[in-house]
Amino acid sequence: MSSILKSEQEKYLSKFIKEKDPLILEMEAYAEENHVPILSRDSAEFLEMQIRITNPKRVLELGTAIAYSSIRIARNLKKKSVVYTIEKSKDNLKIAKKNITRSGLGDKIHLIFGNALEELPKINKKFDFIFLDADKTDYKKLFDYSLILLKKGGMIFIDNLLWHGLAASTKIPKDQKNSTRIIQEFNEIFSARANLITTILPIGDGIGLGIKK
Ligand SMILES: C[S@@+](CC[C@H](N)C(=O)[O-])C[C@H]1O[C@@H](n2cnc3c(N)ncnc32)[C@H](O)[C@@H]1O
Repeated sequence: MSSILKSEQEKYLSKFIKEKDPLILEMEAYAEENHVPILSRDSAEFLEMQIRITNPKRVLELGTAIAYSSIRIARNLKKKSVVYTIEKSKDNLKIAKKNITRSGLGDKIHLIFGNALEELPKINKKFDFIFLDADKTDYKKLFDYSLILLKKGGMIFIDNLLWHGLAASTKIPKDQKNSTRIIQEFNEIFSARANLITTILPIGDGIGLGIKK
C-alpha cells in the first residue's frame, strides 16, 4: 500500500478501503504478480477524490501501464469528460486496451501509443487535470511540457516524490543513487515553480499536487 507508513498503521487503514470492483481488484493482483508499478491503493483513492473535487472536463495522464489509474480516473468523470493517456510500451498497451474494453469506459479513455516526450508537442488541447506518472528520468521535461498544456486553475498530480522513502534518506543503495538524485532535484524544481501553488503529501509514495496560477 504505502511506502511511508509503518506496517501496523498500513494494516489498520487498509480495513477502510472499500474497493469492490472485480476488475480493479484483478488488476491490482496482476500488477503485484507481474511487478508492474501502479499507484498504491491509498494514492489511487486520493486521486479519485481529487478528480471528484475538481471535476475536470479533460484529463491527461502520462504513463498508462495497464490502465489501472486511467480506469479509476474515468469512472469518476462526469458524462462528457474524458481522459487522454499516453503509454510507450507496446506490451503494456496491449493489456491496457483489454482492460479498458472490459471496464466499459472505452468512450471516456483515449489511449495514445508513444513516448510522451514526442507525443505532447503534437497535442493542441488544454487540460484541467494532468497526472504525471512516467519514467523519473523524463519527469522534468514532462513537467515543463505539462505546465504548458495545463489550464489556469488546473491541477497537476505527480506520483513517487518520496521515491520509496529514499528521497528523504541518507542511506541510499548504490543502484538507486541516480534515480533518487533525479527525484530530489525534481522536488526542488516543482516546489519553486513560480506559476504553481504546490504541496507534497506523504500519501503512498509521495504525491505532489500543484495548481496553476
Ligand atoms: C508507474 S507506471 C504507470 C502506472 C499507472 N499510472 C497506474 O497507476 O496505473 C509508468 C508507465 O509509464 C510508461 N512510461 C514511462 N515513461 C514514459 C514516456 N516518456 N512516455 C510514455 N510512457 C512512459 C511506462 O512504460 C510504464 O508503463
